[in-house]
Amino acid sequence: MIPREIRPTVYSVGAVDWERRLFDAIVPLPDGTSYNCYLVKGSNGTALIDTVDPSKEDVLIDNLNHLGIEDLDYVVANHAEQDHSGTLHRILERYPRARIVSTPKCKGMLLDLLTLPEGRITTVNDKETVSLGDRTLEFIYTPWVHWPETMCTYLKEERILFSCDFFGAHLGTSDLYVTDEGRAYEAAKRYYAEIMMPYRTNIQKDLEKLKDYSIDIIATSHGPIYDKPEFILKAYHSWVFDEPGNIVVLPYVSMHGSTRRMVEYLTDALVQRGVTVKQFDLTRTDIGKLAIALVDAATIVIGAPTMLASAHPNTVPAAFLANILRPKLKFASIIGSYGWGGRAVEQLTGLLSGLKLELLEPVICRGFPKGEDFEALDRLAEAIAQKHKESQFV
Ligand code: FEO
Repeated sequence: MIPREIRPTVYSVGAVDWERRLFDAIVPLPDGTSYNCYLVKGSNGTALIDTVDPSKEDVLIDNLNHLGIEDLDYVVANHAEQDHSGTLHRILERYPRARIVSTPKCKGMLLDLLTLPEGRITTVNDKETVSLGDRTLEFIYTPWVHWPETMCTYLKEERILFSCDFFGAHLGTSDLYVTDEGRAYEAAKRYYAEIMMPYRTNIQKDLEKLKDYSIDIIATSHGPIYDKPEFILKAYHSWVFDEPGNIVVLPYVSMHGSTRRMVEYLTDALVQRGVTVKQFDLTRTDIGKLAIALVDAATIVIGAPTMLASAHPNTVPAAFLANILRPKLKFASIIGSYGWGGRAVEQLTGLLSGLKLELLEPVICRGFPKGEDFEALDRLAEAIAQKHKESQFV
């Protein structure tokens, strides 16, 4: 991607990765991603804010050459993860005067993760500023978006917040700014669900802190730039502060149709009672979609047949994932069919134990569900609807 001017002497110089389909060896990227970074040229100094994934380092170097950048004073490392820090060594080689600027915690992580000369890293305190002449950078500690060392950089004169992963979205696009809010919302929610959600309470504090700043633009390091920042600030506010909705997430596996029949019956019973249901067949679902659904759900019901006296193995990742993503869930149950016995309920509730959910009576039946099993599913649907109503989840 060619360099593009955001404001006078402020440029986007990063790379789009159209074809990447997997991140962290688990996160699906249906729309690719980008590794954004930004150049700020002041009257008395130049700073690069973050770098790119090592696979795209030539794009960044070409962009800096294209802009005629022969000298660099600072390269800000808002975050130590390699998709933003992985080209730091190349930048230090190309610009021998450049110093890395980071939080003290980030410095330690950069030295752990990369081969960098410690003497070229300068640490900054929270809210410390660096002057580039007619441009001023302020460093705002925003820990846990999504690592402990993360910060944002605020360009005071233009009121631009360079937020790195915070507010980001894996969305490869040639559009510099958000042009399709529906698409951007879905991608940002997916990104929040997959890596930010476990740190919801920390993010609440980060959002409160940002209220002290007047922000015209949020320039993240993945996805398009927000020139209407209230769009993403409002979305994040809702995701981290709001109570869960009147929603059941229902991931399931079925081998011969018995558990599927139970899932279908329970879905209908919940819908009859005004509860929204989001079903996922775990043999084919995109786990990012499942993660998105968990952001707002109040209840998870796992549909699990018994296989080899255990919960079907394909249900285990869903329970494990829900547990580590730490969504706002309040209630859980298990439904499923077995042949002669097993420990599916104990295993799956054990995997969810970190969430401290209230367990609603599971419905486990032998073989294909029959009259009394459907009655038990009706009771489960009624219990869920009642719990949501009492909690005023709407
Ligand atoms: Fe985009 Fe946490 O790296």
